Amino acid sequence: MPSLPCAELHLHIEGTLEPDLIFALAARNGIDLPYADTADLAARYAFTDLQSFLDLYYANMDVLRTEEDFADMTRAYLRRAAAAGVRHAEIMMDPQAHLARGVALETCVNGVAGALATSEAEFGVSTALIAAFLRDRPATEALGVLQNLLAMDAPIIGIGLDSAEVGYPPSLFAEVYDRARGAGLKCIAHAGEEGPPAYIWEALDVLRVDRLDHGIRCMEDEALVERLVLDRVPLTVCPLSNVRLRAVDTLPAHPLPEMLARGLNVSVNSDDPAYFGGYVDDNFTALGKAFGLGADQLATLAGNSFRSAFLDAGRRAALL
Ligand code: HPA
Ligand code: ZN
Repeated sequence: MPSLPCAELHLHIEGTLEPDLIFALAARNGIDLPYADTADLAARYAFTDLQSFLDLYYANMDVLRTEEDFADMTRAYLRRAAAAGVRHAEIMMDPQAHLARGVALETCVNGVAGALATSEAEFGVSTALIAAFLRDRPATEALGVLQNLLAMDAPIIGIGLDSAEVGYPPSLFAEVYDRARGAGLKCIAHAGEEGPPAYIWEALDVLRVDRLDHGIRCMEDEALVERLVLDRVPLTVCPLSNVRLRAVDTLPAHPLPEMLARGLNVSVNSDDPAYFGGYVDDNFTALGKAFGLGADQLATLAGNSFRSAFLDAGRRAALL
């Protein structure tokens, strides 16, 4: 079956680091990995919650040292995404995760951005870059990194908020979001993946986000669902991620069909495809098996992805 053309709006570039590339970069950089081989590493991808994933996700990033490492990772994702049907990708990166390891901001940003710059010509995938801040680190640190990104004129279109959610409500980052919006950046945030509906309200009312990542726990709050439907707030849903991180018990128990039926503006995305069992095409295939999605539902999901992207009118018209 040919892949459904879509935009990927929820993708952590560091979460595309496949086991074979982790080993190749470790060899190139003279790093000893604590795994016997790629099978030994992949066998550790049995997560119990978000934190159990994040521990491995941050540990594996240690193989990313040079601009070339970041560019190679990004190019590998773009090649695979093109095969998955992705025509436009809005890609998050976690600068603080690299700064904390002593990797310069210029190294990680220029490495990822360099690969994105040739993506449309090379892979037919237009792209945009979003700097995500780690909510389990201080907001003052995020503010400093934002200022440095602006000072270096980094080619970012927006900011996001990720990492461990519970205990780190969006309102902690109000000043960061005000500053970003003032600089003309788009604002997105993870909310309602593991965290309660109250965090989604805060992302909307305090951070004033243009788009929400995950947001699946909105289904526990009827007034919130009505608000999201009324404002057509895009929700970037990641079904295989939700199952792997136990945010939902099983794929057949996933709220996506109910979210669609309620008129929520949902799209399908892969989050951290190297860790969660697949790219966006794999997510669509798994959804098809679990729910037998019809042509109209698939068209809605793909259309939502293009309409929810931060695209210029010309490219959007070409893709829709
Ligand atoms: N949730 C929160 N933070 C993240 C994720 C996620 O799924 N992936 C990478 N950082
Ligand atoms: Zn995510």
